[in-house]
Amino acid sequence: MTEREARWRGSVSRRKALAGLAAFVTGSEHLHGQRDLFRDHSRVAGLDEMRDVFDFEAAAYERLDRATYNYTARGGGSEFTVRRNRDAFDWVDLVPRAIGGPGRPETSLDILGTPLQFPILLAPSAAHEALHPDKEEATYSGCTEASATPMIVSHVASMPFADIAKANGGPLWFQLYPSSELEQNREPLVSAQNAGCGAVVVTIDQQASFYDREVHDRNLSLRPRRPARYSGSAGRYRFASRRMWYEWRLFEGLRTMVNVPMLAKGILTREDALLAIEHGLDGIIVSNHGARTLDYTPSSLEVLPEIVEAVQGRIPVLADSGFRRGSDVLKGLALGASAVCLGRVPRWGLGSFGPPGVARILEIVQEELAESMTRCGTASLAEVGPSIVRTHFP
Ligand code: FNR
Ligand code: LAC
Repeated sequence: MTEREARWRGSVSRRKALAGLAAFVTGSEHLHGQRDLFRDHSRVAGLDEMRDVFDFEAAAYERLDRATYNYTARGGGSEFTVRRNRDAFDWVDLVPRAIGGPGRPETSLDILGTPLQFPILLAPSAAHEALHPDKEEATYSGCTEASATPMIVSHVASMPFADIAKANGGPLWFQLYPSSELEQNREPLVSAQNAGCGAVVVTIDQQASFYDREVHDRNLSLRPRRPARYSGSAGRYRFASRRMWYEWRLFEGLRTMVNVPMLAKGILTREDALLAIEHGLDGIIVSNHGARTLDYTPSSLEVLPEIVEAVQGRIPVLADSGFRRGSDVLKGLALGASAVCLGRVPRWGLGSFGPPGVARILEIVQEELAESMTRCGTASLAEVGPSIVRTHFP
């Protein structure tokens, strides 16, 4: 073998050179930031690659540990209503108009004194610390960046309402899980109002919950589960007895402590909507708690028309449970909701990309809403009504 042949033999091939380069690049900090921490072998897509809300759910799944992801995802019982909350949107058609409204539709409104640029609010959801180290403050910052979307802060948030409120000047409402001892409600209500909450939402569902999937996953999971501080007196069968006492006269008592508008959340029948009016509520949120209470309830979308008919415009009717896209929001509005609240959606935004994720996921839904309105020929919220939908609920 000549000297030259020997050199050829050992010389760097293109393949070896590329392999060396790849190994170098793989060690780079930039790629490290893109790594899926929990599953290790897939690349987490970047924020700029997110096209719709469901992309964020996939990114949140990749970024969050299993217990945290599942806490957001799961619903009650066999999760029939979780599926139904999404199926319901397939049972409502949008009626398109060949020529849409001229220019950008008008989407701003006022709900109980709170100005909104879009008829979309953040539903209260517990314990954001599991999703982001800056907790609810991070969520609030994303909301405010996204056209000052109002955030309803959960009673079981990871930080006090007053501390969240200090972070920026966007609109905040406060959600209360009432205590049977009336006086115990005073401190959370007074401190939220002193910190400037624009309204109080009293959640009256979530009386009993049993999450099959959680039990199943806890048995499978290798990670110790975070103790669920909010589950209170949940016993062996996870009946939250702390929340089994509710009576309508509760609202007369709470009213003495609330000087801002007060809404009841968790209404699913016309009878309860009328009782809410009778007991002095200023608004209601039609909700099955994202299917986290009683399995086999109808979806909010299905019961909205009968509730709106019973309420007859006396108080605003908001809705949540299952809303993911702008077209979903438009369907809710067409069936009579004044505005829609998003529960899981912002949690996916926060868990995947932090405050910019919350802002972007909201902007996507806002843009989709404006686009759907235009395609249905509606130039403003006032023009959105039953004529732009055809329902075929089972
Ligand atoms: C909730 N929800 C809720 N509601 C409430 O009044 N107080 C709370 O603390 C919570 N916490 C909470 C945690 C998680 C993980 C979820 C998913 C939901 C219910 C929430 O406000 C809303 O009703 C539903 O989330 C709406 O359904 P979607 O949008 O999640 O489908
Ligand atoms: C839940 C409670 C906190 O849905 O409302 O997890």
